Amino acid sequence: APRIEVVGNAAAVAERAAALVIARLHDRRPVTLGLATGATMAPLYARLVAATRTGVISFRTVSSFNLDEYVGVAPQSPGSFHAYMQQHLFGHVDMEAGRAEIPDGTADDVAAEAARYEEQIAAAGGIDLLLLGIGANGHIGFNEPDSDFASRTREVRLDEATRIANAINFPDPASVPERAITMGIATILEARSILLIARGSEKAAAVAAAIEGPITAACPASALRLHGNVDILCDEPAAAAL
Ligand code: GLP
Repeated sequence: APRIEVVGNAAAVAERAAALVIARLHDRRPVTLGLATGATMAPLYARLVAATRTGVISFRTVSSFNLDEYVGVAPQSPGSFHAYMQQHLFGHVDMEAGRAEIPDGTADDVAAEAARYEEQIAAAGGIDLLLLGIGANGHIGFNEPDSDFASRTREVRLDEATRIANAINFPDPASVPERAITMGIATILEARSILLIARGSEKAAAVAAAIEGPITAACPASALRLHGNVDILCDEPAAAAL
């Protein structure tokens, strides 16, 4: 079963998550991270940037694979996850060029890009530590409810609620792309360890369904209970329905 830890507030989630990641990076052995985007991750990345600036950790031995990207959004476009990662992490740490992978949402052949991404993860020896958020509907990456647990990196259609929740870097919800490319649930479950973080009352129902509800495609995050090495870290509002 996942290890569950509840801390007081969102800042404490970021602090505790940063401590777990810093512990993994501290010895400067090569490590492959899986990375997520979203508001929950931003304060965690800010702490990793600060720890890099002060020399506590280095990203020189880090490779990474992001979970997902919008289809049809250019990397330089402010709404892209490429731009998010540049702004919150990659622009501020000493990562080697070419070591940070994000699916290419502008590929002409998205299926080929998805297959290529899977091959790259495999060639890197898999993901050591995968960071995850959770959608209010229980999604992980962009694996929306009813995603197959055997799914791999592929093109998906986003739920309306997800597009509304992710509208912050777009002019309006209607401008949020309808499609994305995401690691699949099987891809996610192959990571050697997983750290899911959640904050805020809007995540409480999804967190409770993931941990205490049936293990079902209706709640993609419930698939994490099939994995032996998962930490789930929540603040009190996100844990309120447990
Ligand atoms: C997006 C991302 C997910 C992320 C989720 C939660 O849908 N694809 O990887 O976990 O948002 O984001 P937030 O932290 O902004 O609530």
